[in-house]
Amino acid sequence: MSSSCSGLSRVLVAIAIALVSASSSCPQGWGPPGVQYGQPGRLVMLCCPGVSAGTPVNWFRDRESRLLQGPDSGLGHKLVLARADSTDEGTYICRTLDDEVEGTVTLKLGYPPSRPVVSCQASDYENISCTWSPSQVSGLPTCYLTSYRMKMLPGTGHQRVNLSAWKPCPQDPLGNPRCVIYWAEFWSQYRINVTEVNPLGASTRLLDVSFWDILRPDPPEGLRVESVPGYPRRLHASWMYPTSWPQKPHFTLKFRLQYRPAQHPAWSTVEPIDLEEVITDAVAGLPHEVRVSARDFLDAGTWSTWSPVVLGTPSTESLTNEIPDPGKIYTQLVDSMAPPRPSLQPDPRPLNHRDPLEQMVVLVSLGVFSFLGLAAGALTLGFCCLFRLRLRWSRKDGPQKPGFLASMIPADKLPGIPDL
Ligand SMILES: *[C@@H]1O[C@H](CO)[C@@H](O)[C@H](O)[C@H]1NC(C)=O
Ligand SMILES: *[C@@H]1O[C@H](CO)[C@@H](O)[C@H](O)[C@H]1NC(C)=O
Ligand SMILES: *[C@@H]1O[C@H](CO)[C@@H](O)[C@H](O)[C@H]1NC(C)=O
Repeated sequence: MSSSCSGLSRVLVAIAIALVSASSSCPQGWGPPGVQYGQPGRLVMLCCPGVSAGTPVNWFRDRESRLLQGPDSGLGHKLVLARADSTDEGTYICRTLDDEVEGTVTLKLGYPPSRPVVSCQASDYENISCTWSPSQVSGLPTCYLTSYRMKMLPGTGHQRVNLSAWKPCPQDPLGNPRCVIYWAEFWSQYRINVTEVNPLGASTRLLDVSFWDILRPDPPEGLRVESVPGYPRRLHASWMYPTSWPQKPHFTLKFRLQYRPAQHPAWSTVEPIDLEEVITDAVAGLPHEVRVSARDFLDAGTWSTWSPVVLGTPSTESLTNEIPDPGKIYTQLVDSMAPPRPSLQPDPRPLNHRDPLEQMVVLVSLGVFSFLGLAAGALTLGFCCLFRLRLRWSRKDGPQKPGFLASMIPADKLPGIPDL
């Protein structure tokens, strides 16, 4: 258990020593010495410090001579205020009947602790950080005790659900309401106990957390958006892992990139798995807003917040057929108003750079085609000659038999030798 009372523990020790030496039976809470606490509207009992239990005393309000409660009350060294209210706050004096011992008590009113509001965060897969705040202001000195225990989940190599012992959750040394579970196990669940304590009591909040639920990386850093010279519809975006994410091979991040022409209402979204992306459908000539977020590769937890927006404008020179025409821009704008498209992995190579193999294939196919063309020409030529010959023969040899070609194509319109 870790405690934020440390500043007050010195005081506690001092009180304890004072109590022992005075052998008083006043039950002591903690807080500044000489201060006792009560709740508005409730019965409050003040105790005369330095006086043993049962010793009759006189009670006065500080700087008032009027006797508040005399020794005949039967309450010994205690002063009873039936329904305390704010006018009862202040300093009281108690004095033994022989005036030998005089004690001073200050009454402060406030409320018992309420269950604190606790939430836990993890921006990496090593440490879980929990923060808290009071759910109700008590008006009293308050501290928090923080502890946790681990629960191995079944099916993670441990046969049964197995609880570790409670361990302190170390609190922020600067006094911020935060404690950190260092080197937490990724597949385990943790039960956090944050107990608010004040002089009127204690109130505990228990919270179960696991990396799987709370992991939320910080946004990627170093986003850069650059034009691609010669490509008026392309933008090249690159970024880096958040520095808070310890990089180990089996804990990677995936990314989500959004872009839109500046001032356009809707974002286009792609999910690159790497640290860069080429946007191929940017609107030529317009500056674009680009942002990126990250999430654990296994989908644990949630997406990070978006990185700050970075502006980029596509290159204005055009080397290729990517010349924008107004119709295209219009479709594109309409497109980008549609819901996010599924992740596309555009080919980052420029379109006009064919590789040598591709060029060879083109050459070979050209060769094959011209050969086929020649062959077809030769065949047609041969076929025509045969056909004419046959026509001549049939004219010579009697009544014309309508051949299947002759029925469709007049003989004089048959193709001649192809121009090659
Ligand atoms: C987690 O806490 C340990 C101990 O302080 C520290 O060494 C480590 O760098 C922390 N991990 C991250 C990712 O901040
Ligand atoms: C939890 O597991 C550990 C070993 O993993 C074992 O030593 C311990 O006894 C177990 N505790 C309970 C309560 O089962
Ligand atoms: C939570 O912590 C407080 C203070 O250490 C302790 O008194 C209480 O028993 C704990 N509650 C549970 C459920 O463990």
